[in-house]
Parts: sequence; structure tokens; C-alpha cells
Amino acid sequence: ASSAACPDLAALEAAVAEFDGCALRETALNLCFADGSPDAEVMLIGEAPGAEEDRLGKPFVGQSGKLLDKMLAAIGLERSSVYITNVVYWRPPGNRSPTPQEIAACQPFLERQIELLKPKIIVFLGGSAARGLLGVKEGVTKLRGRRFVYTTADGTRIPAMVTFHPAYLLRQPAQKRLAWRDLLALRQRLREAQAEAAD
Ligand code: URA
Repeated sequence: ASSAACPDLAALEAAVAEFDGCALRETALNLCFADGSPDAEVMLIGEAPGAEEDRLGKPFVGQSGKLLDKMLAAIGLERSSVYITNVVYWRPPGNRSPTPQEIAACQPFLERQIELLKPKIIVFLGGSAARGLLGVKEGVTKLRGRRFVYTTADGTRIPAMVTFHPAYLLRQPAQKRLAWRDLLALRQRLREAQAEAAD
């Protein structure tokens, strides 16, 4: 089925499970479509599933995921209340980075996923996660701290931001200071979006 024809997230997941246009599915054990709540206000988009994610069929359940859970908890967000996915739905062999072709193959599904979820804010984890959807080229250090807007195919404007990937923070813990600022900015923009919706 075409992604645009999928009426809800369950139908979209079923369409991704049937999709054979991305070669990563041939080497992966499981599809990692998403985790969290279909009513989430916050959508987090990472790069690609790793070994643990591939084994369990869920994004961000390994070491990076544990740090991500702590980051969310620091601003009062539970993992179960947000929605987490990646720009590719299958683990690249040996944890290599997904290619631009693999990302492009999955992108129509991700675009529809955003349109169906309609989050109040999107957080890209790492520069490469942000590249395809925001049409930016800079690395994460130039992208973080800025306010982006992602516009869906149906014209909904969704606030978006970029922060460090948790795997990067595990290697560069000194950058957690800046990640904390990003989390505070996330909390602030979420409050703004909630206030706007209440008007
Ligand atoms: N890193 C990612 O980008 N995504 C995952 O799901 C896990 C680790």
C-alpha cells in the first residue's frame, strides 16, 4: 500500500512490514517501527536500530535508549508518553550508518507517520536524523539550539529541534551540559505549543 493511503499508524506499520523497497530488511531480524504512545505530544526520531533494537523489534531499547529514558525523565517525560522512531526501520548490518538511499526509501513512511501522529514537537536525535526531513546539511553542533518547523504534506506546521544523539553523549559526556539546555528548550517549546492549543 502507498504510505499516503494508510489511515492510521497500525495500517502504516503493516505497510512498512510489507515494504520491500529497502534492502536493510533482508539482513535485519525484526522490523523496528516505533515505541511509545500514539497520542504522544513529543516525537523523537533517531537514526537506525542497533543490535538490541533489532532483537526486540523496538527503537532505543539498548544503551542509547537507557540514556534517552533518563534524559526524558529529567524534564518529566515518561518514555511511555512520547513516541520514538528512526529514519530507517531496520538495523543496518554491523551498525554502519544507513545510506542516503536507504533513508530516502523509508522517508515517505516516516512523513506519513508524522502526519498521522501529529505531535506538538519533533526532536531529531543527531544531525543525520534531521538531514532528510529538515533539508539541512550542517552537523548537529550547528543545528542544535535552533528552532525549526517541519511542514507535513497536509500543511500542518510542527515545531522541530535537533539535539545530540544519545550514543554520541555516551562517548562525549562533556556535551551533556549542552544536551541539558536542549531538553529545557524542548520543555519550553512544548509548553508554548500546549498553551497555543488551549487558546
Ligand atoms: N540508535 C538509534 O539511532 N536508534 C535506535 O533505535 C537505537 C540506537
